Amino acid sequence: MFKNASEASQVVATEIATLVRERASAGKPCVLGLATGSTPMGVYRELIRMHRDENLSLRNVVTFNLDEYFPMAPDAAQSYVRFMNENLFDHVDVLSENVHIPDGTIAEESVGKFCDDYESKIAAAGGIDLQLLGIGRTGHIGFNEPRSDADTVTRMVVLNSVTRNDAAENFDGLENVPHHAVTMGVQTILNAQRIRLMAYGEHKSAIVERTVCGDITESIPATFLQQHGDVRFLMDDAAASKL
Ligand code: GLP
Repeated sequence: MFKNASEASQVVATEIATLVRERASAGKPCVLGLATGSTPMGVYRELIRMHRDENLSLRNVVTFNLDEYFPMAPDAAQSYVRFMNENLFDHVDVLSENVHIPDGTIAEESVGKFCDDYESKIAAAGGIDLQLLGIGRTGHIGFNEPRSDADTVTRMVVLNSVTRNDAAENFDGLENVPHHAVTMGVQTILNAQRIRLMAYGEHKSAIVERTVCGDITESIPATFLQQHGDVRFLMDDAAASKL
């Protein structure tokens, strides 16, 4: 538990930087699973600062983002491609060929193949070393909404009404929020070596409590994280207030 989001973000960013440097000195890539939303922004700010001030290079980093709305143009204001470029990639030396984000522009009939290829690319990269996560108020991780089982992999999903309502402000109204998304599955996430879930603010306290203390259930997909051997929940006081 941390006093605030910026303290927690610093801890996560430092862990990532250490891992990236360890791998670089062994001549190896570091595979990161990345998240969007307001929660991980502090981690990205800190990584950018370390790149600028502390010689942190991300040239050996391979990234796989969790999810993207569908359909979604990459230059749209709400696109996760744009989010990642603006909040991280444009400011560091990660190689563009090492960046992977689910594509919100592909034809619907090709989504299945795209998702299979996404899984294959993660496997070919050697699996995810460290997965960053936020959490939605439905208990979703990525866009794995309630009823996403532990064996789900990358696929197209239907967004829950709570999730769409939470996104409405960003989209200037509920009617503009896509009904679908492409997301890594729960199993894809659980396959990561380390998982770091961050949650900040009072509005996350109820779902944090159910995720950490509740029974493991597909009605709250984040509860599957309890089965993982190297997961850490990093929270501020407000998000942890019901624990
Ligand atoms: C979206 C993302 C999730 C994220 C969640 C919470 O649904 N797909 O990955 O965890 O929002 O967002 P925030 O961090 O802004 O609270």
